[in-house]
Amino acid sequence: MAQTMWAGRFSKEVDSKVNDFNSSVSFDARMYKQDIKGSVAHATMLAEQGIIDVGESKAIIDGLNGILCDIESGALEIDPTAEDIHMFIEAQLTSRIGDAGKRLHTARSRNDQVALDIRLYLKDEIEEITHLTLELENTIIDLAKQHTRTVMPGYTHLQRAQPITFAHHLTAYAQMLARDLSRLADCKKRTDVMPLGSCALAGTTYPLNRRRTAELLGFSDITMNSLDGVSDRDFAIELCSALSMLMMHLSRFSEEIIMWCSWEFKFIELDDAYSTGSSIMPQKKNPDITELIRGKTARVYGDLQTLLVMMKGLPLAYNKDMQEDKEAIFDAVDTVKLCISTFTPMLATMTVLEDNMRNAAARGFINATDCADYLVKKGMPFRTAYKITGTLVKLCIDKNTVLEQLSLEEYRQLSELFDEDVYDAISLDTCVMQRNVEGGPAPQAVEKQIQLLEQTLKGYC
Ligand code: ARG
Repeated sequence: MAQTMWAGRFSKEVDSKVNDFNSSVSFDARMYKQDIKGSVAHATMLAEQGIIDVGESKAIIDGLNGILCDIESGALEIDPTAEDIHMFIEAQLTSRIGDAGKRLHTARSRNDQVALDIRLYLKDEIEEITHLTLELENTIIDLAKQHTRTVMPGYTHLQRAQPITFAHHLTAYAQMLARDLSRLADCKKRTDVMPLGSCALAGTTYPLNRRRTAELLGFSDITMNSLDGVSDRDFAIELCSALSMLMMHLSRFSEEIIMWCSWEFKFIELDDAYSTGSSIMPQKKNPDITELIRGKTARVYGDLQTLLVMMKGLPLAYNKDMQEDKEAIFDAVDTVKLCISTFTPMLATMTVLEDNMRNAAARGFINATDCADYLVKKGMPFRTAYKITGTLVKLCIDKNTVLEQLSLEEYRQLSELFDEDVYDAISLDTCVMQRNVEGGPAPQAVEKQIQLLEQTLKGYC
């Protein structure tokens, strides 16, 4: 184990168990690129401000770039006994370039350094998740375009309720994901703020140019209070919350896919490449992916809880508790990326069993509201029409038939207002086509919705 950075103040080596307990390198090593990038910008600015020598700054930057290359090529292994990635890289630098390396940490603390690294890391992750979400959105929209006339039952309480189209159902998810995209973009704005210069907690007496460091690193702004700069993890919590909501949407969609695959529904069939079999029941084809997504949603909610609870009692400014932020937010980000990138091709390759959807829509009296509306349009008050239609439904159930099959005499026994045109009014196609209100399931309304969605999505490309 290497000697610790703070050895001067201590008369003993730290206990090896304590070293392991304290160490975060096993999970923060993934931020090596961001750590090096931040240090390069800091060293550049320090030299520009005359705080360190230009030659030393150059040696630091070359040394850091060398470390980056060696980590990427595998020539340099990250020491698992190091305290964290920041200490590891700094120690490497000093061992490579000597005393100049010891100047890098001028006017900087690991407290603002780690805050910077997480922000840099999460900015990239938000971009990647945005890209994956856009791919999923486009897959949903492509599928919806093919099914604007595929009639299916819409449900409330999981009971067949009113007729919709598969496109209408799919675009409901497209709307949810569009809101997710907007939340991610919003969260990115608050992540895109540069904390370096906050130092340990109280800023510094050195004449830093914080805005220059922000510019070098591509940040839009700098943090405005050094205490807040080192102790703010709102951006990570906000991201985890946006990701929890995104997972909630994927989980609800997954749940529906699980049902649609069952013999009870049989609305879709998943491609063999995206299903699994059973070790004992040869007939089985299981929707494991969607079940796992539903299950993994719990992990992301757990990560959000971890972050919220970890932060809630912390006095200002930095406390070591905050080291626990990383595993939670990294797990959330990894889980979401894994789930979306598996879900999208699964959706793109599934087979839609249109006839089964239509047959399910044809049973279950989902045109009963339209039958009542027919009477209302002929002047009857809705409550009376509702009651008459209820009696007709009961008659159908007793006769084991559907509204479309009753004779006109049977209709007219309950109201003289019924005429031959009732059959057209309650046909499934009419029921869907006439729901042409903005946001409704009629093909035209869904096409309009898709157009608007596509415009919104262009804003994220
Ligand atoms: N590994 C630490 C973390 O992730 C870095 C900051 C350490 N700062 C300190 N004052 N001990 O939070």
